[in-house]
Amino acid sequence: MKPKKTKKKIKNNPQLATEVAPRVEVIEREVPIAVPRKMVTVYIMGKAYKVPAESTIMGAIEYAGYQIKRGAGCREGFCGACATVYRLPGDFKIYTGLACTTLVQDGMWLSQLPAIPAHKPVYDIEKLKPDITAFQQLYPEIFRCVACNTCTKACPQNLQVMDYIQAAIRGDIEKVMDLSFDCLCCGLCSIRCPAEIVHYNVGILAKRLYGRYLAPRSQELELRLQEIRSGKYDQEYKKLMKMSREELEKLYYARDIEEEKE
Ligand code: SF4
Ligand code: SF4
Ligand code: FES
Repeated sequence: MKPKKTKKKIKNNPQLATEVAPRVEVIEREVPIAVPRKMVTVYIMGKAYKVPAESTIMGAIEYAGYQIKRGAGCREGFCGACATVYRLPGDFKIYTGLACTTLVQDGMWLSQLPAIPAHKPVYDIEKLKPDITAFQQLYPEIFRCVACNTCTKACPQNLQVMDYIQAAIRGDIEKVMDLSFDCLCCGLCSIRCPAEIVHYNVGILAKRLYGRYLAPRSQELELRLQEIRSGKYDQEYKKLMKMSREELEKLYYARDIEEEKE
């Protein structure tokens, strides 16, 4: 019996298609053609490099042959380690951004700032009060704010930075905590501030004060802490500490998981 013919023809050899290899299905695909990448020129540490136009600044630095040992962490816009300043041709402004999420532009003249010097006093949170006095004592320079809004414009997180400094000036800790909540501590606001304020450390102080004095207490957490202190789980901890990694993994994956409520 002759093999069943396929409906599709093999290109350039219909005889072969029907008689010799009839079950071969030929899928016609577009052959990818190597399209030359669009390149742009960026200046890294004062030297010009051609880099792909779709690169992030971080990608461009690495494409140019540099190994980034400082000034990179998450590479996803979360850790704030890759603060960068740049200028563009024919533009007097200094721009700021995160190297891992900002795309290059032709003629970009850039410099990474892996560490930004910042004033950071040491304090004992137990000795502070959750009001304006904490800011007066530790960050008196905030009262020099001239409300220029440069800090807000410099922030890669689009935070209302000036507003949280103004809230600190009023002693509104909850507002400072709230407005600075997504701060990455990249430091770009503070390098641009004419009053030399270290905004992110002000935000951290507010978060600590809020957590220590103002956040509503959870009764469930208090109860669990009492149970831990009373030794209720000591035996269980001892048992866990003796287990191997494999036993712990097995136990972990077999645990009861509360179903999510719709
Ligand atoms: S507030 Fe300042 S330190 Fe925080 S993310 Fe914005 S620019 Fe960076
Ligand atoms: S850059 Fe400095 S002076 Fe200007 S608004 Fe921000 S905190 Fe105030
Ligand atoms: S490397 Fe973490 S924000 Fe850029």
